[in-house]
Amino acid sequence: MKGKFITFEGIDGAGKSTHVDWLAERLRACGLTVHVTREPGGTALGEKLRELLLNRNMHLETETLLMFAARREHLAQVIEPALERGEWVVCDRFSDATYAYQGGGRGLERNKLRQLEHWVHGHLQPDLTLLFDLPLEVARERIALASRSLDRFEQERADFHERVRQAYLERASACPERICLIDGNDSLENIRKRLEKTLVTIC
Ligand code: ADP
Ligand code: TYD
Repeated sequence: MKGKFITFEGIDGAGKSTHVDWLAERLRACGLTVHVTREPGGTALGEKLRELLLNRNMHLETETLLMFAARREHLAQVIEPALERGEWVVCDRFSDATYAYQGGGRGLERNKLRQLEHWVHGHLQPDLTLLFDLPLEVARERIALASRSLDRFEQERADFHERVRQAYLERASACPERICLIDGNDSLENIRKRLEKTLVTIC
């Protein structure tokens, strides 16, 4: 039997990274083999591309193509082999992020994104996507509190992040069977309870 593919999505500061490892541990406690990974990144080449994507200015189409190039490598080296072995993959961001950031945030035509998505993983979609949603101001406050240096995307203006948030919400409305909306502004305890309940639906 194939393993399951779970992705985490949301604007920067929504709380994805806080829950990724916790969710993986919950799954391991059920006896599953679980890989935790992220995008852009997840392979040696992908991490090099991440370094460029997060720090170097480039044309929007170059940015989009590099996101999908890193994704192709990630699928080939990590995600698809693990799923074939019956193992689970928990990934911090995937193609919904490209629709939200390059599509919603930067305004790239959705048709181009659909073509790339079809080319790179037309045969594969996540089994479950956990979309952490919360008001932009709350996410920004959290990032400010963490007082770390900001990458190229985090440095974007508020209206960019608002468009990213709206694009995510549109995708959640379009794919309600795959994308599960999580209130990222709730307490950690309540979010964990919600994740536990959601897991029951795919375990
Ligand atoms: P993301 O990976 O989505 O960018 P993080 O998981 O890194 O976000 O969380 C950003 C910050 O917000 C971290 O400092 C984290 O401790 C804090 N945080 C995450 N979830 C919550 C929550 N539900 N309530 C309060 N603070 C949170
Ligand atoms: P992330 O790993 O969430 O950042 P952090 O380590 O700060 O939590 O993601 C890095 C950035 O890459 C994030 O701002 C969103 C952006 N991104 C895109 O613009 N398009 C994509 O397809 C992906 C996967 C990420």
